[in-house]
Amino acid sequence: MNCNKDSVNHELNLYFDNSATSWPKPEAVYRAAELQMRQMCGNPGRSGHTRMLEADRLIYRTREALAALFKVDDPSRIIFALNATDALNIALKGFLKTGDHVIFTALEHNSVLRPLGTMRRNGLITTTMLPCSLEGYPDLEFLENAYQPQTSLLVINHASNVIGTVAPLRKMIESAHKKGVKVLVDAAQTAGTIDIDIADLDIDLLAFTGHKSLLGPTGTGGLYVKVGIDLKPLREGGTGSHSEIDLHPESMPERLEAGTLNSAGLAGLLEGINFIRETGLDQIREHETALRRSLREQLMEMRQITVYGPEEAAECAGSLSFTIRDTDCGEIGYILENNFGILCRTGLHCAPLAHQAFGTFPGGTIRLSPGFFTKAGDIQFLINAIREIVALTEKG
Ligand SMILES: Cc1ncc(COP(=O)(O)O)c(C=O)c1O
Repeated sequence: MNCNKDSVNHELNLYFDNSATSWPKPEAVYRAAELQMRQMCGNPGRSGHTRMLEADRLIYRTREALAALFKVDDPSRIIFALNATDALNIALKGFLKTGDHVIFTALEHNSVLRPLGTMRRNGLITTTMLPCSLEGYPDLEFLENAYQPQTSLLVINHASNVIGTVAPLRKMIESAHKKGVKVLVDAAQTAGTIDIDIADLDIDLLAFTGHKSLLGPTGTGGLYVKVGIDLKPLREGGTGSHSEIDLHPESMPERLEAGTLNSAGLAGLLEGINFIRETGLDQIREHETALRRSLREQLMEMRQITVYGPEEAAECAGSLSFTIRDTDCGEIGYILENNFGILCRTGLHCAPLAHQAFGTFPGGTIRLSPGFFTKAGDIQFLINAIREIVALTEKG
């Protein structure tokens, strides 16, 4: 495809990849991470001196802020992890026992599919995939018939990272609980952009990441663990407590947190959460929904384009995917960056089964994910760029 390089404005570098990691972050996030490293050098929970206490308090405040955001009474039930992948591994490998059966949706990310795949291949567990519609809604009738006597866990991706569809969490959790099955929610795409009331929804385990809609630095994330669920620790080691015994402590959060925490990252994450609280989750959601609606409507006007996912923007979070007839998604992503300075993500988005369900496997889609800092003008620039590309594909 021949593209006019004169249209390039690399200065702009419009960022449409917030589903991968959010950018920019609020200024306070950058400042807090730097300040933590410069001034609060103590190792949280360890030495007992003033610097350590400051670092420890800051981490506790981050835990409290997350507990408040997710409506969890006891902050010690929130443990920190490296990212959502790490949190999902801690949950799956800590919860599942030999002989268990697990139900997961076709929308799951590889951070769920791969740990489950390894356990299945090793003969430890059996699994059933819950199919979903073209719009990304899990088949609830299928779910009712999928439970087996050994089913111990239902894994639900709260929102598809490919097309943004939000799962009907309440219905699915109620269905699982009626059968005595626990529920693990992957909130990687929703924490910080959709209100999640853990207590009201009666969620058993919830994995989140800090570097997407929670607006924190990379290397942050965590897991909520309901009282009564005891996960076998994936890692054991130093916690700064009970040092006299050679067994990892039973008490939370230490039970699932071994080794020095990412204090600088968590200081930044606290500011990300503060920004969300001060701005208001509703306002963030409203802005992102309006952007998504405008993007979808304008993409739909181009007959060469197929847009995937629900028509109603209010039923989605984050990502929107499309393809252009007879073109390679990777090539379109390359042109968007090199000719227009627009950054997005193309391909399978670590969700191969979702693409199979949408009929976009193995070529994938072009994924656009605006964020809270995206402006209406950015959408217009993006749409004009796509129009130019589509016109070029017509010329061949
Ligand atoms: C639905 C979903 N789950 C899990 C992950 C993994 O998140 P992390 O990169 O924080 O490990 C992602 C990342 O894109 C995701 O979209």
